[in-house]
Amino acid sequence: MLRTALAQLRASEGHGGATVALVPTMGALHDGHLTLVRRARAEADHVVASIFVNPKQFGVNEDLDAYPRQLAEDAAMLEAEGVALLWAPDVEAMYPSGFATNIGVAGVSDGLCGAARPGHFDGVATVACKLFNQVQPDMAFFGEKDFQQLAVIRTMARDLDLTRPHVDAIIGVPTVREADGLAMSSRNRYLTPDDRRAAAALPHAMRTAIAAIEGGDDVATALAGLQADILAAGFASVDYAELADSRSLAPLGTLGKTPARLLVAARIGNTRLIDNMAVNAPA
Ligand code: PAJ
Repeated sequence: MLRTALAQLRASEGHGGATVALVPTMGALHDGHLTLVRRARAEADHVVASIFVNPKQFGVNEDLDAYPRQLAEDAAMLEAEGVALLWAPDVEAMYPSGFATNIGVAGVSDGLCGAARPGHFDGVATVACKLFNQVQPDMAFFGEKDFQQLAVIRTMARDLDLTRPHVDAIIGVPTVREADGLAMSSRNRYLTPDDRRAAAALPHAMRTAIAAIEGGDDVATALAGLQADILAAGFASVDYAELADSRSLAPLGTLGKTPARLLVAARIGNTRLIDNMAVNAPA
């Protein structure tokens, strides 16, 4: 079924064949997802979107069962955005009994969310590899919102020849934010109205820390101030608040000449929020 539909899409442009972009999601779509779709529409002849709430990337005590599912609503949104094909396999189709393969991407998966959520990025890499093999896209779009995930996918795609050599086929899209600065996320709907208001302090505190670091303040002091600001705003805990090299994601104690990123994960109520922003090296 998927193969037939893909063959039809490919044939639609005659000679060289049409280009196909993949936008993988877990559904519960918001404007962040739809921005990926719009970018994909601009770059490729056809867009294939996938919706699959991937059990392998959820830990035992995480929100797999509670994760919002609204396939009909999502399908209507994707159709309105001009998506040619929605691929929404069920768990049995993706992981039939006896499924035994695991893909791990060493290094970039280890710190940050990888340390806080053991096995998470193996689950992401494994499902993304399957989606690439199923759809065989010319390019695929991922959000910078999940910055470490983007690094994991880029490394895997290169290592396993999932995309054409020497082509930058994994395209990162800047984070789409709510009016108050909070990064859009399917998990924001778990927040109580009070927590939702308080959550806007996270990007705000990150911008304050970035201004301090870019202004030459000591990184450890700025990160300690950031943690304190997040907790003072009503967050229950901070999983991590780190300055890292943008490519390797290795932690940085000082701002050097290579591009850097500030990455944070923090819990408010029962919800874990993540965010990240670029930090510019001094001119
Ligand atoms: P999901 O959380 O549904 O996100 C799907 C894609 O949308 C990811 O590439 C994510 O980075 C992007 N995205 C989410 N919120 C965004 C925002 N506010 N701005 C820009 N992009 C945003 O990430 C996953 O699903 C899964 O791990 C998946 C890659 C589908 C593998 O299961």
